[in-house]
Parts: sequence; C-alpha cells; structure tokens
Amino acid sequence: MKILIQESEIQAAITRLAQEIRDREGGKPLTVVAIMTGSIVFLADLIRKLDIPLRVGVMQTSSYRDGENRGKLIINAGMLVDIADRDVLLVDDIFDTGNTLFEVIATLGEFRPRSIRSCVLLHKDGRQLVEMQPDYIGFRIPDEFVVGYGLDYNDLYRNLPFIGVLEPEDLAAHT
Ligand code: IMP
Ligand code: MG
Repeated sequence: MKILIQESEIQAAITRLAQEIRDREGGKPLTVVAIMTGSIVFLADLIRKLDIPLRVGVMQTSSYRDGENRGKLIINAGMLVDIADRDVLLVDDIFDTGNTLFEVIATLGEFRPRSIRSCVLLHKDGRQLVEMQPDYIGFRIPDEFVVGYGLDYNDLYRNLPFIGVLEPEDLAAHT
C-alpha cells in the first residue's frame, strides 16, 4: 500500500486543527458530534487535544445502495446527546461529495442547536456536489480511494495508523 499521509503528519495536523478550533470558538464548551464509524480514530485524537469543556455524541449514516447508484442516506441519531441550545462541532473522516455532511447538518438542525460547525480530517478535491464547505479541514487530498486512520474498504483497514491508497493487489485480495 502507498502511504499518502504519515502518522506524524496526521498528529501535527490535529494539533493545528485543535488550535484553530480553540481560537475560533473562544474556548466555550462544545458538543462534539462524530459520524461513525470512519471518524472514530480522528475523534479520539482530536478531543484529547481540545482542552475545553466538551461533550461527545455519535451518530451513524449509511446509504441504501441501488446497484451502482448511491441511494438515499439513512441517518441514525439514536446515540446522539442532547444538542438543543448547544454549540456543535460535527466531525467526519472525509468530505467527498459532501452529501453526508450536508444532510447530517440539516438533520441536526431539527434538534435546535445554537450553532453547528464542521471539521473533517480529509477533503477530496474536485468531488463536491454541494455548495457548503467544512469549517475546519485537516488535509486536501487528490481524488483517490484512501483507507486507514478510521477509513475503511469493506470495513477493513480502519486500524492503520496512517492514511494509505489501496493498490490493485490490495483490492483483489478482498474481492
Ligand atoms: P460524501 O457523502 O460523498 O461526502 O462521503 C462521505 C463518506 O463516504 C465518508 O464519511 C466516508 O465514510 C466515505 N468515503 C468517501 N471517500 C472515501 C475514501 O476514499 N475512503 C473511505 N471512505 C470514503
Ligand atoms: Mg463515513
């Protein structure tokens, strides 16, 4: 597998993101809401670098697949904490088309938070289908399928400490 982003580079980016978040949010208490499962590792590292009072909640998204078409996004908010009147920091692993973050923000809005800002570790350039952009971005990457540091291919590779690009042999090993 080709390594795209080393473990040390990821940690440096998270330190920078935590500082940006602290500066912009002014150290006020945050409710961090992470989209499972891809953001699990990022969440764990990011919250440990945020020295402000915070709550953590998670939600999950999945999409019904209709052949090759990516179907309607299903949002499971069953494990969400109370976000009414709170300042929410939404965390996801990667901003690809942007549909996930866009729809999750719309859904969270129904719970009447005071504010919602979003933070992603990765931003895939040139793929976006929505008008919005995340407020905090770790890295901009080219349009390649990446795994590791929480990101999966068929639910594998989430435990890699770095971000890698799968080679054709890696893909063949799982089909
Ligand atoms: P979006 O809705 O197109 O922005 O896709 C966001 C979701 O798709 C992410 O939360 C990931 O779970 C998944 N995803 C998009 N690109 C990749 C990738 O390169 N590797 C692994 N998962 C990805
Ligand atoms: Mg995801």
